Amino acid sequence: MTTKTSLKGKNAIVTGAAVGLGNAYAAALAGEGVNIAVIDIREDVAKVPSQLARHGVKVLAFHGDVANPADVRRVVDTTQSVFGSIDILINNAGIWGASGAEDDLDKSLADYEKIVGTNMKGEYLFGRAVIPIMIAQGKGGEIVNVATDHHVTCGTPHNVCPNLATCPWNKPNPGFQGPPRPTGGGEMMDLYDAGKWGLNGFLFAWAKALRPHNIRVNGFCMGATDSYMLRSFHNFNPSKEEEASWMRAEDNAQALIDLLKEGPQGRTAENMNFCVGRPVKLEPPRSLKYILPESVATTGA
Ligand SMILES: NC(=O)c1ccc[n+]([C@@H]2O[C@H](COP(=O)([O-])OP(=O)(O)OC[C@H]3O[C@@H](n4cnc5c(N)ncnc54)[C@H](O)[C@@H]3O)[C@@H](O)[C@H]2O)c1
Repeated sequence: MTTKTSLKGKNAIVTGAAVGLGNAYAAALAGEGVNIAVIDIREDVAKVPSQLARHGVKVLAFHGDVANPADVRRVVDTTQSVFGSIDILINNAGIWGASGAEDDLDKSLADYEKIVGTNMKGEYLFGRAVIPIMIAQGKGGEIVNVATDHHVTCGTPHNVCPNLATCPWNKPNPGFQGPPRPTGGGEMMDLYDAGKWGLNGFLFAWAKALRPHNIRVNGFCMGATDSYMLRSFHNFNPSKEEEASWMRAEDNAQALIDLLKEGPQGRTAENMNFCVGRPVKLEPPRSLKYILPESVATTGA
């Protein structure tokens, strides 16, 4: 992909942007001249406009819950009315919680509302609210859903880290002992992983349905990346070795910018893996085998 689409003057919604990866995505987009609307359940989301002021873009900050339809409607309607259009949706808000096969029913129901409510319902509602607007605008659009690399939540079977034979990064990096590795999850995060895996359902269905409208839909399924959430796993006191192995949110945000700059002719329906021990960079686009008939897909995008 040689030509890069400029993002300047586009309008984006980033969910869960008070801290962590969402905050890095909002900053990177603002640095490209994108007007930003953020929503977060944390009250300190109110600081985001002053954080981004130096970029000279418009910034709207909403205190709200991505799982609450009224909050989703308020964010989307206000953003459209103030910015005039919505070009980019970054479905990033997420929470983790310990859950497993032996939990009792009461805990399980509460966990479901909380974890799947945010990680899956939030993305679903924002998608449903924004997609009709993007279609009506008739100028394409970008949706990126944020999943995780836990076990096979990256989805498509050929894309499981770390043993993807075709992966150009599939070798140890200097300074990192051992091969790339997927992180976390497993028996103590069954709901988190199920919800993140479920995002692949939206990814492929939306990418296929929206391709005629030049709306691309992609996903990020990264491993351990420095954030508020990751530090909370370690009671905010990680070992030096653990901390040194983490990826940087800023690098992940740069990969997001590189993805968006591919523009309408770029890849769609990819859930892109960023795995501890590999460079945080986009791999070359894959064929559209999951959204096109096999005979067409084998020729590539
Ligand atoms: N950091 C990692 O290692 C990692 C790895 C894989 C996937 N992820 C995913 O990346 C995304 C960002 O995670 P992070 O590590 O930056 O976490 P984080 O906790 O640092 O930031 C998440 C943000 O989302 C907000 N949020 C949570 N629930 C919300 C809700 N219901 N409504 C609105 N906002 C809400 C939080 O308040 C917070 O500001 C999540 O979807 C997470 O599952 C993170």
